[in-house]
Amino acid sequence: MSVDIFAGKKIILGVTGGIAAYKTPYFIREIKKRGAEVRVVMTPSATEFVTPLTLSTLSGNEVIVNIFPQSQENGAGLSTWHIDTALWADLMIIAPATINTVAKIANGFADNALTTLVAALRCPLLIVPAADVDMYRNKLTQRNFNTLREAGYYVIEAEEGELASGLIGRGRFPEINKVIDSAEIIILGYKRDFESKKILITAGPTFEDIDPVRFIGNRSSGKMGYELAKASYLRGADVTLVSGFSHECAYPEIKLIKIRSAAEMKKLVGKEFENNEILIMSAAVADYKPVLFRGKKIKKEDKLSSIKVVETEDILKTLDKKGKITTGFALETDNELQNALKKLKSKNLDMIVLNSLKNHESGFEVDTNKITIIHRSGNQVKFPLLSKFQTANKILSEILKIKK
Ligand code: CTP
Repeated sequence: MSVDIFAGKKIILGVTGGIAAYKTPYFIREIKKRGAEVRVVMTPSATEFVTPLTLSTLSGNEVIVNIFPQSQENGAGLSTWHIDTALWADLMIIAPATINTVAKIANGFADNALTTLVAALRCPLLIVPAADVDMYRNKLTQRNFNTLREAGYYVIEAEEGELASGLIGRGRFPEINKVIDSAEIIILGYKRDFESKKILITAGPTFEDIDPVRFIGNRSSGKMGYELAKASYLRGADVTLVSGFSHECAYPEIKLIKIRSAAEMKKLVGKEFENNEILIMSAAVADYKPVLFRGKKIKKEDKLSSIKVVETEDILKTLDKKGKITTGFALETDNELQNALKKLKSKNLDMIVLNSLKNHESGFEVDTNKITIIHRSGNQVKFPLLSKFQTANKILSEILKIKK
C-alpha cells in the first residue's frame, strides 16, 4: 500500500461568509478520510451560513471564531493561540474566501481570528475564492488576487457557471476534489512549472465496434490519463485531453474531447498535436478492429465462429514529432524492459513509461501505480508504488528534464 500524502498532515481550514460555505462540511469529511488533522477557524459572518457546531463535530476539534476568549476572569484562557495554531499547521486553506477576506489579507489586515492567523502563518496558504460574477471580476478584487499570488500564496481561479444569484459567469466554488488536488500539489512541493506550456494527453481505451451492441476494447479506466491532465493543469499547463470511454471527470478548464475508436483518436490527436508542444500518449489504443461493422445485431442463430480483424494504425508512429516532446506508455506482462525499449525506439519517443502488470497494485482499475521511466538516452528512473496522481506528477517532472 502506498501512504496517503495527507496522512498525519495538519491543516487549518479557514471558512468565510459566502454561500459556498455549505460545502465545507463535505470538504472536512473528505480530507479527514485521507488522514489529515483539521482545525477550523471561521469569520463571524461564516457562522451565518454553517454552524461552528457542525464543523467542530466533523473536524473533531473546537472551532475558533473569536480572537478573545469569552471569559477573561482572572486572565483564564488567555494565550497566544494564533501563534500556536499557525506554528502547528502544515497547510492553511481558506475555502470559501470572500472578496472581503481576500481584500483584508491582500492588505495585511489582522482584524479577526482568521486574518490574525494568516498573518502569523509560516506554512503555505491556499485561497479558494467564490463570489458572484460582478464581485469576482471587480477590478479591485482582481488586483487583490494578483497581490496575493505575488506574495507567494496559491489562489485557485473560481469556475464559470450558474451562480447562487441565477447569474452566469465566473465565481463558482470549484468541486471539492479540485481543492484537495490543489492542496496535494502544494504539499508535494510542486510549483506552476508548466505555466504557458501546451500539453496534449490521451486517456482511456478505444472501442472498435463489431455491431451496434459489441466491441473490441482494452481494459482501461482512463484514470492515469485524467490524473496527468489534472496534475499538469494545476502546475499551470494549458491542457487538451483526448479520451476514450471513461467514468473519470476532468476539471472544466481542461479541453476534453471524447472519442470512441482508434481511428477517431488518430484524427483528433493529429489535429491537436499541431497546437501542442508536449504529447503524453497514455491511451490504451486497441490494436485490432473488425474488418466489417455489421449494422444489425449479430444473433445466436447466425452461428458466428470468427470475426475477421485488421490492425488499427499506430497513432504515435504516424506523427511528425519534430520539435515536440513525446511520451508513450508500455503496459507489459513479460520481458518488460526489452519491450519498452523496443517501443521507445520504434515509435521515436523521448520517454516511455513502463507499467508492469506483474504488480497487482498497478495497471488497470486501481488507484496506484509502480512505474519505470526510460528516457531516449537509455537513462532509467524507477519509482516506488505511488497514487496515480503522484505518479502523474513524477512523469511530468521527468518531462521537464527533456530539452529540445
Ligand atoms: N499506441 C498508439 N497507437 C496504437 C497502439 C498504441 O499510439 N494503435 C501507443 C499507446 O498509446 C502507448 C504506446 O503506443 O503510448 C504503446 O502501446 P502498447 O499498447 O503498449 O503497445 P503496442 O505498440 O500496441 O504493442 P503491443 O500491443 O504489441 O505490446
